[in-house]
Amino acid sequence: MQDLSGKGAFITGAASGIGLGIARALLNAGMRVMIADVRTEPLATAAAALGAPDRVHTFTLDVTDKAGWVRAGEAADAALGKIHLLCSNAGVNIVGPTQDATDEDWQFCMGVNLGGAVNAIRTFTPRIMAHGEGGHIVITSSVSGLFTGAFTGVYATSKFALVGLAESLRADLKQHRIGVSALCPGPVQSELFESTSTVRPPALAHSGAASVVSPGTSREATPIFATALTADDVGARVVKGILRDDLYIMTHPEIRGVLEARHRALLSSLPDEPVNEARVAATQNLLGETLYNEQASKPAP
Ligand code: NAI
Repeated sequence: MQDLSGKGAFITGAASGIGLGIARALLNAGMRVMIADVRTEPLATAAAALGAPDRVHTFTLDVTDKAGWVRAGEAADAALGKIHLLCSNAGVNIVGPTQDATDEDWQFCMGVNLGGAVNAIRTFTPRIMAHGEGGHIVITSSVSGLFTGAFTGVYATSKFALVGLAESLRADLKQHRIGVSALCPGPVQSELFESTSTVRPPALAHSGAASVVSPGTSREATPIFATALTADDVGARVVKGILRDDLYIMTHPEIRGVLEARHRALLSSLPDEPVNEARVAATQNLLGETLYNEQASKPAP
């Protein structure tokens, strides 16, 4: 998608943080936006802060609510007309020993992070396809969708799933001139820890998750957030990623080492046996021209 000006975008989880940063960047690029979130008051505050009332619409939506998605699609049609861009960004964070996660932890995190994205693409992909002008879908994953470690099992499971969803959807939608990107940020200033506890439904309250920071600690004072990017930094990067049709929209060059280590670990785990050429031919699609090659020749952003 090369020309954003005047086109319509739908963004979930946009009452604060990365979703709001994306909305601001898209407005700066001349788009019209519908921002959606389950937190109604922060959503209204966010819309006011964006300061472009003629180009900003709001919709209160719980991304796990399928009936809500039907209404959201209709509202977006009415407010924006043709929709060219979907940013599926709403998310929650669960931290704690994976083995201690409760059924409620899994349902809550997978329901919002993965289920919300599935609902988003099922609602808006047909709309983007219908006008035939092409478009783009950005699915917010995380660096936790690319590598993981202790205490991130539930969150990382949802975020790895989103990378798989984005990669596969990209292959499916290429013929329709709809690009798909997995947004994989590292640490970003946002309200994620606070919003997660606010939006968690009472029915899914039982948790084995640990507190993200010790009680009484300012999150901003922790090393990870003292050096975090701003949501506006990420928003600007998302616009570049859409214009470049990036498969992955990355924000932190600092993760190079761990990505290389993951790559080495994968390669060193392959069976130490000669390659069977007949199998190569039979699985060419998997082993040869993949999405990863498609991106390899691009200049750095
Ligand atoms: P945030 O808390 O500022 O924004 C998340 C928004 O999602 C909130 O406004 C929240 O109300 C909304 N939300 C949660 N559950 C919802 C539901 N069921 N329906 C509709 N809206 C819902 O936090 P942030 O960090 O901006 O999060 C945005 C996305 O970025 C999330 O998917 C998160 O996992 C991802 N991310 C965040 C990183 C960070 O360091 N802040 C790093 C990597 C990824």
